[in-house]
Amino acid sequence: MKKVLKIDTEETVILRHVKKSDIDGIWRNFNNVLEEGTYLPVFTPVKTEIEKNSWYDNIKREHEVCIVAEITNHKPPYDIIGQCEISNLEWEAATHVGSLGIIVSEKYRDMGVGRNLIDIAIRESNKLNNKEKIILSCFSNNERALHLYEKMGFRVVGVRKKQFYMDAVYYDEVVMELFIEEYLRNNP
Ligand SMILES: CC(C)(COP(=O)(O)OP(=O)(O)OC[C@H]1O[C@@H](n2cnc3c(N)ncnc32)[C@H](O)[C@@H]1OP(=O)(O)O)[C@@H](O)C(=O)NCCC(=O)NCCS
Repeated sequence: MKKVLKIDTEETVILRHVKKSDIDGIWRNFNNVLEEGTYLPVFTPVKTEIEKNSWYDNIKREHEVCIVAEITNHKPPYDIIGQCEISNLEWEAATHVGSLGIIVSEKYRDMGVGRNLIDIAIRESNKLNNKEKIILSCFSNNERALHLYEKMGFRVVGVRKKQFYMDAVYYDEVVMELFIEEYLRNNP
């Protein structure tokens, strides 16, 4: 699976499955978004080779889907500008459900990279892993992400009030879900 996008900056982005040589680029992107301090309920950057590699080994062991956005005119690790992972849940009775996480680097937001990453990740997780349903969660003040998820057909299941506490402020968590059969019907 490979999709090529021409984005507003006139650069070319390739969307494809993750490979081992992407590990540093992926964690660089993650740590940069973490530093923004706004979107992720995590404080500690991922720096060690053990942490980075064990994340990748786990994806391969669990046969999880991780789609990356690679910009063709940058060299590793600066070439990875987005990633969308659909992880398995811990429950044996929920193997048909995947949990979605996504980040796109700040410079490349609002150009359709996120929508394309999610679209491919949903389709691939259905095709390769028999996922039927995707769940996710999001800070209630993350307006861009909520707009995108709702536009793609995710529905709000509920809100966990004051679920996160960061820099002396409480944040609500919005929980959403999407049924892939319905998504594919609406987006053939
Ligand atoms: C959320 C995120 C993954 C979306 O990726 P992206 O590449 O920017 O997404 P797209 O360009 O496909 O779509 C963004 C949409 O949000 C809209 N948008 C931008 N700012 C917005 C705002 N403040 N309020 C509402 N909508 C907004 C854009 O107009 C676009 O919608 P449109 O296609 O209807 O015009 C990305 O912005 C990101 O990584 N943000 C930081 C990390 C994060 O929030 N991750 C998700 C955690 S739950």
